[in-house]
Amino acid sequence: MSTDAIVLLKTDHKDIREQFRRFQQAGENAAAAKGRIVEKIIELLTVHTYIENEVMYPEVRRLLPDLEDDVLESYEEHHVADLLVAELAAMTPAAEHFDAKTTVLIENVSHHMDEEEQDWFPKVREGLGRKQLQDLGERMIELKKTAPTSPAQPSGLKKAIDAVIS
Ligand SMILES: [Fe+2]
Ligand SMILES: [Fe+2]
Repeated sequence: MSTDAIVLLKTDHKDIREQFRRFQQAGENAAAAKGRIVEKIIELLTVHTYIENEVMYPEVRRLLPDLEDDVLESYEEHHVADLLVAELAAMTPAAEHFDAKTTVLIENVSHHMDEEEQDWFPKVREGLGRKQLQDLGERMIELKKTAPTSPAQPSGLKKAIDAVIS
């Protein structure tokens, strides 16, 4: 298995998009199924956000200062998604706002992942060598083992908030 950081993050994105697609295809009157899909989305996003916030963003910011603006924009985009995720995690699928909130989350995160893949990852790959990307990937794989899986866990939201207010 490749430990390249960008390959790893793209694989996460693919899994997240798959759940987005399942939600969009669930149709009307599928509250129970949608509830389970959103639980999975929340889990995937919490883990993915954690490893980006803990390793990828701070390390790219340190190693490639020219990409600082992109990293700061990413923190803000993650922050918006984190708020929606925290609200969704506290809602039942029968709630009036559940579908609309999930739809807005999907739109926001899809935009963010597209931007990372089309714009940001190519710049990072150009700036960092293969070895550095493998080291970052290995650290993220290791961190995934202890990453929070829900925003209710203290480490889930804290880092994201620290990043946007500090
Ligand atoms: Fe991201
Ligand atoms: Fe990402």
